[in-house]
Amino acid sequence: MRTYSNNAQLQSALENVRRKGQSIAFVPTMGNLHEGHLNLVRKAASLCDVVVVSIFVNPLQFGPNEDLDAYPRTLAADKEKLFSEGVQVLYTPTVEEIYPEGMARHTRVAVPDLSETLCGSSRPGHFDGVTTVVAKLFNIVRPDTAVFGEKDFQQLSIVRKMVKDLCMPVNVVGVATTRDQDGLAMSSRNGYLSAEQRHVAPVIHQTLNACREAIACGFDNFLQLESHARMRLLQAGLDPDYFAIRDADTLRTVTPDTEEIAILAAARLGTTRLIDNVRIALNPVSDWGMLAGAH
Ligand code: PAF
Repeated sequence: MRTYSNNAQLQSALENVRRKGQSIAFVPTMGNLHEGHLNLVRKAASLCDVVVVSIFVNPLQFGPNEDLDAYPRTLAADKEKLFSEGVQVLYTPTVEEIYPEGMARHTRVAVPDLSETLCGSSRPGHFDGVTTVVAKLFNIVRPDTAVFGEKDFQQLSIVRKMVKDLCMPVNVVGVATTRDQDGLAMSSRNGYLSAEQRHVAPVIHQTLNACREAIACGFDNFLQLESHARMRLLQAGLDPDYFAIRDADTLRTVTPDTEEIAILAAARLGTTRLIDNVRIALNPVSDWGMLAGAH
């Protein structure tokens, strides 16, 4: 595995890869790699000849009161995991390499609307930081395929929209959320949880699943489902930021054109903010009648 921190050196190495006719799959990460990331790497390896992983804790996507300084940085352990997976190229740029004139003067890439709802409402500017860095990383790596986790479902939707709107020649692939045995979605932020909080955290997935089952059984009062779910999270000791039943494609309210529903939740446990989602496909002919009164 070759590691590069310098853009020009990475680009020249990847130019050689392309010259040989090999395809490139890219997995952008912020490090502190767990099984969820490794599943993205495995998917990437199944799709292309060469896998490039980036590790960059992007300051532009952290708000002023968020966990940028505390965000776990575990480069040595991450390198070992990537090496064991057979990753060929690791890219570990510095903040100066990505934002040479500082973040304030750097060009921004923003996906309006989709970036402002759900996590975007409580983390203003977060997704602009994500799209700015992902667009830049795409331009540096020039991958054929880029792989993202479905746990960050809103992020995946926003990246897909950016790629479509800006005609970026990248195939974006989503990978199902990797979960611990009790259903908790794997996340670097799980490491912040105390033993007691870790015991409570799976309630998020349980509540999402219960909501999905209710919808599958024909329960169509979505406002009531959302409010019950928020109550259940509160009772378990979580502080819900949102619990929302949305069209999986637009992340807006469900309509008669909705083909798939996404149920998304964000909640705090102490100071740790956790997110998760589940989805349910609707059969357009038979299911809509059942959900026509839904709101
Ligand atoms: O999902 C993440 O880890 C980050 O948001 C990403 C996509 C690497 C951009 O910094």
